[in-house]
Amino acid sequence: SSKYRPFAPVNLRDRTWPDAQITHPPIWCSVDLRDGNQALIEPMDVERKIRMFEQLVKIGFKQIEVGFPSASQTEFDFMRKLIEEKRIPDDVTVQVLTQAREHLIHRTFEALEGVPRAIVHLYNATAPVMRRVVLNMSEDEIVELARTHAQMFKDLAARYPQTQWQFEYSPEMYSDTELEFSTRVIDAVTEVWEASPEKKCIINLPTTVEHSSPNIFADMVEWTCRNIQRRDGVVVSVHPHNDRGTGTATAELALMAGADRLEGCLFGNGERTGNLDIVNVALNMYIQGVNPGLDFSDIDAIRATVEYCNQLPVHPRHPYVGDLVYTSFSGSHQDAIKKAFAARKEGEIWDMPYLPIDPKDLGRSYEAVIRVNSQSGKGGIAYLLEAEYGVQLPRRLQIEFSQVVQQEMDALGTEFAAADLWKVFEKEYGLFS
Ligand code: KIV
Ligand code: ZN
Repeated sequence: SSKYRPFAPVNLRDRTWPDAQITHPPIWCSVDLRDGNQALIEPMDVERKIRMFEQLVKIGFKQIEVGFPSASQTEFDFMRKLIEEKRIPDDVTVQVLTQAREHLIHRTFEALEGVPRAIVHLYNATAPVMRRVVLNMSEDEIVELARTHAQMFKDLAARYPQTQWQFEYSPEMYSDTELEFSTRVIDAVTEVWEASPEKKCIINLPTTVEHSSPNIFADMVEWTCRNIQRRDGVVVSVHPHNDRGTGTATAELALMAGADRLEGCLFGNGERTGNLDIVNVALNMYIQGVNPGLDFSDIDAIRATVEYCNQLPVHPRHPYVGDLVYTSFSGSHQDAIKKAFAARKEGEIWDMPYLPIDPKDLGRSYEAVIRVNSQSGKGGIAYLLEAEYGVQLPRRLQIEFSQVVQQEMDALGTEFAAADLWKVFEKEYGLFS
């Protein structure tokens, strides 16, 4: 990855602005099997869940939220299956979610019996609208709710000393909650859990609904990092959703603001407009010279698994993975790419017009990069003939031949592959028949 350009854009490279850079990857946590799964038209069955789990492990996730075991028998059984069939690799920690309700917490710990390591994730809503309309609770009552159930975690975990426990707490709707109040709740929970540098807990800050712009959320994260009492005993995690379509920016700014950990889903599956797309953030880092520590070198295989498990297609223009993202239709783009490929030396910084990443790094091929349709110019046509058939057209012939091809394509209304161009070439010039 060192061959990629640094994070700061060209005009900022010489400026001192250390906070505005992502210099190392966060702790990644996939929530595909929980937040992603709960938002599917047809939730995954056990076979699909296993496929997804194995895919996430293969990518390199070390923390995976595998479900909400107290929510249904399927969820409970899946957790048991992972444990009983010893499917959890030694370097992976599974995470499960539960609401702050006594019987659900008991059932959650029951589901986890015998697990070597686990993150148990507690949540309750903290935002004014939830306090007023849904929960009918005062601020003090919410603090007490969080405190009592955090204590319950501690008591239950003590019954299973063979497991290595880590606790996580989410003030649901954090981004809609008054900062002083969410800090009060967080402090109450971390006090019960005795969070310390030796025994860190995770405080997860969700934009449960993305109501504000990314910079506002980042300011909130920074404020929280500065004001919670036990910052050194806390892994600050963020959990962006994507209601404004800015989940990626939210995550990136939150990392710059001090967050240590990110929760999200592959290709942005999740409630409503989805969770944060973890692939986007990881590959944005990758092209800016930071190794994300996640392996997307065969991105099409990952996409196929995700589409199968979620039963949802990935959009053809989805960043980094869509069918069309390494395809150039415009003639001027094709021409520029052709020149840059010709000038490029192996191992050089990837500095290619119109292609932000070398498709090869994701297992995609150059062959797919240039296709020819009625919007294309002579450059793309000449490139394909040369790349596929070794024919170098002189400039005058390029101009003449591209006009012929344009006419053919206009008449047929289709896109041309290299083989179609070759047919027209043979027909027109009859050289090789
Ligand atoms: O979006 C959200 O608030 C959540 C919490 C349960 C963490 O998914
Ligand atoms: Zn969520």
